[in-house]
Amino acid sequence: MNPSNLIPVADTLTAHWGWFQFLLMLTFPLHLLAMNAMLGTALIAFVAHFFPGQQYRDLSHGLAKALPFLVAFTVNLGVAPLLFVNVLYGHLLYTSTVLMGLFWLAVIPILIIAYYLAYIYDFSFKRLGNAGMFVILLVLLLLLLVGFVFSNNMSMMIAPSSWERWFATPGGSLLNLADPTLLARYLHMITGALAVGGLCVSLYAQVVLKRQPLVAEAGVRIGMQCFSWLTLLQLVVGTWFLLTLTPEVLKRFMGGDTLATAYFGAGLLLALATLVTGFRRQVLATVWLTVPLVYLMSFMRDSVRSGYLAPYFDPAKVSVSVQWSPLLLFLISLVGGLALVVWMLMQLPSLKKSARQD
Ligand code: HEM
Repeated sequence: MNPSNLIPVADTLTAHWGWFQFLLMLTFPLHLLAMNAMLGTALIAFVAHFFPGQQYRDLSHGLAKALPFLVAFTVNLGVAPLLFVNVLYGHLLYTSTVLMGLFWLAVIPILIIAYYLAYIYDFSFKRLGNAGMFVILLVLLLLLLVGFVFSNNMSMMIAPSSWERWFATPGGSLLNLADPTLLARYLHMITGALAVGGLCVSLYAQVVLKRQPLVAEAGVRIGMQCFSWLTLLQLVVGTWFLLTLTPEVLKRFMGGDTLATAYFGAGLLLALATLVTGFRRQVLATVWLTVPLVYLMSFMRDSVRSGYLAPYFDPAKVSVSVQWSPLLLFLISLVGGLALVVWMLMQLPSLKKSARQD
């Protein structure tokens, strides 16, 4: 069957597609950064249980306190890109979501259990003692499972040729396991996530845990080692992912598409620079290099999506019927929401001061 016949008609856009593309590319890396911090925090809280010394217990405890917030940030920062990706690619994403509906719906109970366990790990840290390491391990594994479900969906939505399997298996239980890119893509995502997560832990230890110098030192050391060694490993995993792409898509990064090649070149240079600052344990310099690197990798990932969809779909060709009022309302709410968040953050120091006086 011709895969194009399986693709539903795309909905009309209410503004030029560039608006939605811009907002998707702005918000998705924010979800990634929060997700990375969440996974890295869970990993290092777990690993610290294996080190002898009170400072490592205190490090796990400090990270346990941050984890529930990071889960909430990851989920909330996932909503915005989910909306924008649905506007641009909804007819593809809805289809792949239906094909794997059982696993997709399972994300909600899995997340609820992981979130609940993260609170248990935080609130009962002292009572759990060393058993806490099994709780945090379970949290980490459940969150990694959620990431795996996402990688399946994001890779299946760009592979309409795999959809006809539904006629033989219509129960919503399809994954994308036969896709040669899936494992490399997922491992590339997770290696990067745990590396950047290690960097976030170092920053958290350096800034938030600085009143406990031994704990802060332990956090910076483990976090930067995690960042640097996993980034080194990423050179191998990333190359593997690149080589699993079809020749047409790979060619985009090798001069076939000027912008994609520029992303790749700049990304590689930034990754090498982070290795230097990472192994030197220069936390802030590494953060400044890593944030643009995460953005560049998201742009590359988007170029992979466009490359795979090129024979079937181009959002730039979808018909547009401009409705300014929803966009205007969205932009006003966005600015208002951001102002509110900034105001709340500015209130934090005075709240902390009055809590200490009480
Ligand atoms: C809390 C656990 C979560 C983890 C570990 C996680 C992890 C990931 C990973 C690894 C990807 C990339 C998949 C790939 O391209 O191969 C991804 C993409 C995505 N995630 Fe999450 N995610 C989580 C929760 C969520 C939630 C709750 C939402 C929505 C409310 C969400 C929204 C998205 C969206 C929209 C994308 C794709 C965006 C795009 O393709 O442009 N995520 N996530």
